[in-house]
Amino acid sequence: MVRGVSPFMLWYRTVKHRLYLCNGPHCSVRGARALRSALDTALWDAGILAETQITISGCQDHCDHGPNLLVQPGGCRYVALDAERLRAVVQQHLAGNTPIAEWLATPEMRRSGGG
Ligand code: FES
Repeated sequence: MVRGVSPFMLWYRTVKHRLYLCNGPHCSVRGARALRSALDTALWDAGILAETQITISGCQDHCDHGPNLLVQPGGCRYVALDAERLRAVVQQHLAGNTPIAEWLATPEMRRSGGG
């Protein structure tokens, strides 16, 4: 252990991707809550679970197109996810460094007024 550095900070420095899975009200009714376990499984299967931070977020302002996942770094927001698409995002974007452009949010999808 590095003196003066917590185990959390040591792990945090190894994180390559930070994922924000929307569990706001609109995404939740479209199945976002069930995607959490699918996300864990996909990350485990890809061998990158330990280097990925997952945050369950509130509304991401793209309610009409959820469930949504924001990937950082890069600011890629995936929309209309299901377990199959989520697995593809993990394999192609996170593990393969190739974002899936056709599943990314566009500026027109942003909803004004929150939700
Ligand atoms: S509830 Fe998910 S973007 Fe608004």
